[in-house]
Amino acid sequence: MSLFATSVLAITVADESGRPRGLVATAVCSYTVSPPTMLVSISHDSRSLNVLEHAETVGIHILDDSQDQTASILAGKGEDKFSQFAWEWEGAVPVIRDSLVTMTGSITNRFEYLDHTLFFVGLDDLVVRDAGSPLVYFQRRMRALELASPAHAA
Ligand SMILES: Cc1cc2nc3c(=O)[nH]c(=O)nc-3n(C[C@H](O)[C@H](O)[C@H](O)COP(=O)(O)O)c2cc1C
Repeated sequence: MSLFATSVLAITVADESGRPRGLVATAVCSYTVSPPTMLVSISHDSRSLNVLEHAETVGIHILDDSQDQTASILAGKGEDKFSQFAWEWEGAVPVIRDSLVTMTGSITNRFEYLDHTLFFVGLDDLVVRDAGSPLVYFQRRMRALELASPAHAA
């Protein structure tokens, strides 16, 4: 799987006491365009799983390649991840500032299989930043995309 290049996404949600919670996820895909629906796979080891199971709304962010530190924080197990980067509330959803794409939506369905749970998220809103490039995960590292050289671009 180390050769399976993916975007690095951040999943955010408010817990039952109104605190922002979140994690980094790459097991995410666009499930249907109409209606716009994302699929997010969450490990049963993740502390966010329990929060997501009780949540109605969620944030899904395609991180910008300048947000590698934010990604590392969200991939960790810190108690107060959200004190370490800029974010704000959008309704009941914590959204991370300066993300390349910010999606918010409602969890419409869940499906548990093996040690992960799949969450189907129907999108209510999508904000795309004017410029930027996604943070990608490839060969076990977070990286910026490199443009193909002219020899490959034909
Ligand atoms: C590149 C990368 C991709 C990851 N993708 C996922 C994923 O798709 N689903 C998941 O549950 N965890 C994924 N993780 C692991 C979580 O981000 C990590 O376990 C995190 O600490 C969970 O935080 P929490 O326990 O506060 O919820 C990924 C980690 C990295 C570094």
